Amino acid sequence: MSSWSSTLRWRLQKLGLAAYRRSLVFYCLQPPEKSSAPALPEGFEFRALEAADLEPLHYPGGWLSLDEARQWLERGDSDLCAIIRGDRICACLWLERHIARIDYLDLHAPLPDSHGYISKVLVTREWRRHGLARAMYEAVAARGPWRVLHSACVPWNEPMHRLFAQLGWRRRLVITSWKLPGLQWFDVRPLHGGDTARFLSPERAAEALFAVREERP
Ligand SMILES: CC(C)(COP(=O)(O)OP(=O)(O)OC[C@H]1O[C@@H](n2cnc3c(N)ncnc32)[C@H](O)[C@@H]1OP(=O)(O)O)[C@@H](O)C(=O)NCCC(=O)NCCS
Repeated sequence: MSSWSSTLRWRLQKLGLAAYRRSLVFYCLQPPEKSSAPALPEGFEFRALEAADLEPLHYPGGWLSLDEARQWLERGDSDLCAIIRGDRICACLWLERHIARIDYLDLHAPLPDSHGYISKVLVTREWRRHGLARAMYEAVAARGPWRVLHSACVPWNEPMHRLFAQLGWRRRLVITSWKLPGLQWFDVRPLHGGDTARFLSPERAAEALFAVREERP
């Protein structure tokens, strides 16, 4: 599908004018109490950014536009963490606290205390396969203090599933949302015991997302 038609489809879906079925696989990690940040190759730096950094460091866009990224930083409940080389962001991700804003499913899910949600991961094309996504995930886990870190990706994002497996993240649940004009529902399916729960309201699904308890395998 061309990017023009997928953008049109995304906009129609956002306006509630086109049906969709979307799924996300949620992962979690209980970081060890003590872990050290990964060593980055020479010339790279990992740090949290401020709104004033975005333009000078050539914010790469992607999941959030420059204006949206500024708004997110000014709101103050999320960090934008980036790997920088020279005056450019090579890779970045968001670390959300208190609320995970999951645009793909239109959910704002409350996070328990000391839980963080890593989202909107992006490595710029020229820096892919240099270990930067892995380094960012490890650096966030090492920064703590987290009881649990969460993250998610679509079922077909094989690079992300491999990355989670390599880093010891555990698959937790799958949430699937169906949206038809005037009607939406969500199935939350725990992957380690427990029944699938169906929610007709996004608020109820969002509340359940990080509250679902499972038996450990
Ligand atoms: C997915 C993405 C973040 C990976 O970033 P990256 O810096 O290239 O990943 P890394 O180099 O740290 O790779 C770590 C591991 O991930 C897996 N991986 C990464 N890219 C992969 C690819 N293209 N194919 C298969 N596995 C891949 C591998 O297991 C890799 O370990 P290995 O190099 O020892 O084989 C990057 O490709 C990207 O930004 N993609 C577009 C945006 C996106 O999908 N974001 C995730 C949204 S949840």
